[in-house]
Amino acid sequence: MIKLTINGTEVEVEAGTTILQACESLGIEIPRFCYHDKLSAPASCRMCLVEVEKMPKPVPSCTQPCAEGMAVYTDSLIVQDARKGVMELLLINHPLDCPVCDQGGECDLQDFSMQYGSDRSRYSDEKRIVADKNLGPLIKTSMTRCIHCTRCIRFLDEIAGEPEMGGFFRGEHLEITNEPDAPLTSELSGNLIDICPVGALTDKPNAFRARSWELLGTDSIDVFDAVGCNIRIDSRDNEVMRIVPRQNDDINERWISDKARFACDGLKYQRLDRPYVRKDGRLQFATWEEAFAAIENRIKQIAPEQIAALAGDMADCESMFALKLLMKAIGSPHIDCRQDGAEYDISSRSAYIMNSGISGIEKADAILLVGTNPRHEAAIVNARIRKRWLKGGARIGLIGAATDLNYPYRHIGDSPSSLRKLLNGDHEFAQILSAAKNPMVIVGASVFTRSDAMDLQIAIRNIADKFNMIRPDWNGLNTLQLAASRVGGLDIGFIPQAYGMNTNAILKSAAEDKLEILYLLGADEIDMSSLGKTFIIYQGHHGDKGAERADVILPGAAYTEKTATYVNTEGCVQSTERAVSPPGEAREDWKIIRALSEAIGKTLPIDTLPELRFTMFTANPTLRKAMAFEDFLQSAKAGELSLKKFIPAINNFYMTDVISRASPTMARCSEEILPFILPPEGE
Ligand code: SF4
Ligand code: SF4
Ligand code: FES
Repeated sequence: MIKLTINGTEVEVEAGTTILQACESLGIEIPRFCYHDKLSAPASCRMCLVEVEKMPKPVPSCTQPCAEGMAVYTDSLIVQDARKGVMELLLINHPLDCPVCDQGGECDLQDFSMQYGSDRSRYSDEKRIVADKNLGPLIKTSMTRCIHCTRCIRFLDEIAGEPEMGGFFRGEHLEITNEPDAPLTSELSGNLIDICPVGALTDKPNAFRARSWELLGTDSIDVFDAVGCNIRIDSRDNEVMRIVPRQNDDINERWISDKARFACDGLKYQRLDRPYVRKDGRLQFATWEEAFAAIENRIKQIAPEQIAALAGDMADCESMFALKLLMKAIGSPHIDCRQDGAEYDISSRSAYIMNSGISGIEKADAILLVGTNPRHEAAIVNARIRKRWLKGGARIGLIGAATDLNYPYRHIGDSPSSLRKLLNGDHEFAQILSAAKNPMVIVGASVFTRSDAMDLQIAIRNIADKFNMIRPDWNGLNTLQLAASRVGGLDIGFIPQAYGMNTNAILKSAAEDKLEILYLLGADEIDMSSLGKTFIIYQGHHGDKGAERADVILPGAAYTEKTATYVNTEGCVQSTERAVSPPGEAREDWKIIRALSEAIGKTLPIDTLPELRFTMFTANPTLRKAMAFEDFLQSAKAGELSLKKFIPAINNFYMTDVISRASPTMARCSEEILPFILPPEGE
């Protein structure tokens, strides 16, 4: 440990700590432009200068390490003068754009020039103008405002792994630019808007729509994938205006994917805002009473086992739990939250979560990816794998379709036979796994939907055993889920009850006209054309595939419109918060199910959200439990593995669900960015 004084206060820090970090630990603010705690530090802007006793001139605190006995001053006359000088230079060419700049109100340059700058300028020369660049459909540029901090270049290079921006020309002619006429292709590119300290890079779909002080922020959770990124929903007048990340170092650090950030405009389109009932072959407006009456009439005529329920990928725990109670009250065991037909060993939670946790990736030194493209299935997890690779000393292998993952990997093969090779030690990656201290396997969601899913899981478990991936101090056996609802659904047991049918059996039964009623709780990703004559109740928020096929539509709330529990792929229980109200007559999903239960004479004994949550958490202790490892799928001989190649679970990252399919911004991304995505690359 090192002892130093800052503004006369003694502080003790670890060796290697910079002066800026030491100041932060004392709560002293140091202005900075180029420094960002998740990026390398170039020390180029000089805004963070501090005075250090016995040093001839002020030093950049973002890179200067603390030393024993150092005396640092952060607000002396020398420092104030230095900051004024830096501000003056930065503003030489900066336009007087604040009244029309989207960064206004949340701009570091604006704030620091108020706090540390001078109130007059000595320059009367003409300011330089820099041509704006086309970065694609998501980021608007005003490059005259750029202060050359290079955060954008470093972010794309280090975090996103797509070095698509750089500095061109020298000295006062320097310009930050991308490749002409090619949009940024990174699925994390929206984070540039947050890290640019000025208004050079701003939110294109939201240009000139709102000022930061008009927005009401609500802390919530993203549901476009199973990562559970922490987000803040900024709304105005009951409209979601934008979504930005919140810091959570265990999950998303400070980043979110472009879909999580920009698909929110899909919340305004294709919304189901009133109940509908199909009459004479056409969906017609109805009241809630009429919709419930249509369901009651139908339920009255059938045996309990002729009704089934499927939950979709964005369903929350409360609504699934309420629907499970309702189905139990009706007397049907046919429920499933795996609309893709995935098969897991559901006897243990360890079989379907990321046992190491997302942050655990940073401890792994050999990572085997099986049947997954984490870049599209969980962009934030992929960024974590890249971070681990960048640190050095980690090798990555892929069994599955070759793709561009933003880091080099060994392509072991594209079918399950490669698992055999590893088990038999017939591939060099087997030696890498053997030599690793903390080896890890990450299994993609599409593996579980194959016909040989259970045999594959046994083979993967055998690999985990062979390479010592499961130990008391380390569990590197990981499932990377795709759907936000999946772990929560499995945790609360929204799965076939005794003698119940699973998704595949339910769909087969519907196709053969043996099922009378199918209740779809936001389940849109099934083949609607083969549901036979089954009466479909669709409860959800968007008029997508499910609503089109429905006989009764019950309009529900999207994730921004309800307080609801979700469990992420690593088993972390989190909650969304209601930022805006659902449109029209739409209601929170658990309330719809509660009201329906009363209408059909099976009243559920829950009247408030706290009551429902209490019942749910009491009935499902796994939801409260820490991530304790429970053993599952003991080593066994895997049956015959099919020769079928692994196929990607996602073809178009920008359109995967009802909200992103309704989003004009995601449609533009599909049109303008997808053609530029590079062909696959392996080591
Ligand atoms: Fe004003 Fe900041 Fe925009 Fe510059 S970047 S015009 S200082 S709000
Ligand atoms: Fe920095 Fe923004 Fe300029 Fe990039 S565009 S160098 S982030 S000021
Ligand atoms: Fe230290 Fe830029 S923040 S030099």
